Amino acid sequence: MIKIVHTIEDLRAEIRAWRQAGETVGLVPTMGALHEGHLSLVRLVRAKCMRTCATLFVNPKQFAPNEDLDKYPRDEAGDAARLADEGVDLLFQPGIDEVYPPGFTTTVHIEGLGDILEGEHRPGFFTGVATVVTKLLLQSLPDIAVFGEKDYQQVLVIKRLVRDLDIPVRIEAAPIVREAGGLALSSRNAYLSEGERGIAAALFGTISQVAENVGRGAAPMEQADWGTDQLLRAGFASVDYLTVRDAETLDVVTEASRPARVLAAATLGRTRLIDNISV
Ligand code: PAF
Repeated sequence: MIKIVHTIEDLRAEIRAWRQAGETVGLVPTMGALHEGHLSLVRLVRAKCMRTCATLFVNPKQFAPNEDLDKYPRDEAGDAARLADEGVDLLFQPGIDEVYPPGFTTTVHIEGLGDILEGEHRPGFFTGVATVVTKLLLQSLPDIAVFGEKDYQQVLVIKRLVRDLDIPVRIEAAPIVREAGGLALSSRNAYLSEGERGIAAALFGTISQVAENVGRGAAPMEQADWGTDQLLRAGFASVDYLTVRDAETLDVVTEASRPARVLAAATLGRTRLIDNISV
């Protein structure tokens, strides 16, 4: 039976009881609107830990004023039912004042890594993510916390903050879950029209082709230009970036001699999609 708690005090009391019984704890932070991708994170934690705690908090600090905070998909009852079906023990669903009480002024900023790619196109995004994730990790102090690789840069940012701030938790990345056509599952796919869904698959098709070409020795920069052009031709309104980066530092690569990653962000209609794949 899943237990739902709304305060940090109750969250800590539940986890303390598990710890006293010698049980290991895994954390799955989410913003809700759960899909198979989120459930795969839960399954990963359940395979590794005796207890699973999920969090559901739509974090306003990671949305810019022009972004979709107000219309972000929400289905709290459905999410709780889905997590219960997956065997989650505890759901932490705090209100806004529990996470950011009046007078809250502290932020966590990851200089460099948090300022490029998504950080450049969504100013403040990673500071919002890093701040809330730091809080969730310190509130629950799990053995492991799992995040989806669809947000590849986010995983790197979180690994960096955990290392830099000496937070005693292991961060694990779970593989991207895709629809049959290749579109990476995302809560924001709910915004796509039927017609846009057909076009959206071109994002995965294109980055896969770029990864294959670069893997065969093609020049990363030229491939990035080719891929950008492909997306625009397929019907994407704009491409924020399609780029080949070092898989660990996200530095630009000019030849794929080290493990590399193709990352892309593009807008289809009014929906911004991101995806990535290893070279
Ligand atoms: O990936 C997400 O859903 C969010 O960025 C996270 C990690 C739950 C922080 O709000």
